[in-house]
Amino acid sequence: MTPAHPTSGKPNRITNLFGTDVPVVLGPFGGVSSVELTAAVSDGGGLGSYGLYGYGADAIRNTAAELKRATSKPFALNLWFPTGDETTSLPQPDFDHYVATLKPYFDELGLPLPQMPDRYLPDYEEQVEATLEAGPAVVSFVFGVPAPELVEEAHRRGIVVVGTATTVAEAIALEAGGVDAVVASGMESGGHRVSFLKPAEESLIGTFALVPQVVDAVSIPVIAAGGIADRRGYAAALALGADAVQVGTAFLATRESAAVPAYRAVLHSPAARETVLTRALSGRLARGIPNRIIADLAEANLAGAVIAPFPAQNWLTGRFRAEAAAQGNTELMSLWAGQATALIRHDSAADVLTELLAGRPVL
Ligand SMILES: Cc1cc2nc3c(=O)[nH]c(=O)nc-3n(C[C@H](O)[C@H](O)[C@H](O)COP(=O)(O)O)c2cc1C
Repeated sequence: MTPAHPTSGKPNRITNLFGTDVPVVLGPFGGVSSVELTAAVSDGGGLGSYGLYGYGADAIRNTAAELKRATSKPFALNLWFPTGDETTSLPQPDFDHYVATLKPYFDELGLPLPQMPDRYLPDYEEQVEATLEAGPAVVSFVFGVPAPELVEEAHRRGIVVVGTATTVAEAIALEAGGVDAVVASGMESGGHRVSFLKPAEESLIGTFALVPQVVDAVSIPVIAAGGIADRRGYAAALALGADAVQVGTAFLATRESAAVPAYRAVLHSPAARETVLTRALSGRLARGIPNRIIADLAEANLAGAVIAPFPAQNWLTGRFRAEAAAQGNTELMSLWAGQATALIRHDSAADVLTELLAGRPVL
C-alpha cells in the first residue's frame, strides 16, 4: 500500500517511528557533528543526528550525555560499520612512503610527521556497546547491514535502527536485515558514498532515480538524502514517495554547525557551485568542493600509488586537515559538501527547517 504523502505537521510513518514532529532528519557528520546543531534540529521538531566516526567509548558516552542535557527530544547516533582494517596493517615501508608523499603539507602547516599509530579507528564492538547503552531514540548505520543480534539488542532497548543504501539492492538487503527505516542516499550527497554491495563508483545513482525505486522495492519507511537544500527539494522528495528527508550540507552551513567559519564561508560562496567525487583524502569515495589538496593528490596519484587504503589515508591526511581547519586554510582541509550547496540561503538551523517545511508535496 502506498503511504499517504505527508505534509509538515501531519504525523506519518517516520514521525511516528522517530517520535518527531516533522519528517526532517539532520544528516550525521563524521568528525564535524556538533551537539548544538543536533539539539537545534531535534528541538525544532526534526531528528538531529550526531556522527560518531572515530569516537571511542568514552567520547560516545560524554557526547550522548551532552546531547541529553542539550535536548529532551529524540536524536540519532550514527556509526560506520568496520572495515576489517581498523588496526595498523600497512607495512612500515608503505606507511613511510605515504607519509613522504604528504610531507609537503605537514611542512606547510608547521606540523611534525606522524608516527605509525597502533590503530586507525576505535574498536567497533566498544563503540556499539557505548552507543546502545547511551540509549538514543535512533541509531543509524552506514557501510553495511547490521547483524541480527545488533538489531535485536537495539529493539530490546527500544532503539529504532536505520540503515543507509546507495542502490536498490542495498535497500532490499537492509530491509531483509531487519532495519526499521532506510536512508536512500543519492550521489548528489555531500561526504562519503556509503556503498557496501558494489564499489561506490558502480553505485552512483541520483536521488531522483533512486528514491522512487527504493520506495517500490521495500515496505519500510524511506528517507531521501542527497541534493535536498530547500522547499523544492523537500516537496520533490515527498512527491517521489519518500516518508522523510535527510539534509546534510544545508545544515552544515549554519552557525550551529561545527564546521569552522572558513568552511562555512566556502559553503556560502560561488565556489560551492562545483563539487567533485574523490578518493584522495580518505581512500574512499567522497563528495566535496575542489581545492588544492584534492587536485594535488589526484594528480600525484596518476603518477604512482600515493593514496593509502581507507582508513589509513583518512587518518594520515586527517592529521594535517585538522590543523588546516584550525588555521582556516581551506586549500588543505576537507570541504565535504553536496551538489545542492549553492542553493543554501540560510544561516541558522531553525531557518533551514522553516525553508524545507515550506515545501508542499504536489501529489
Ligand atoms: C561533512 C559531512 C560528513 C558526513 N558524515 C557522515 C557520517 O559520518 N555518517 C553518515 O551517515 N552520513 C554522513 N554524511 C552524509 C550526511 O549525513 C547526509 O546524508 C548528506 O549530507 C545528504 O546530502 P546533502 O549534503 O546533499 O544534503 C556526511 C556529510 C557531510 C557533508
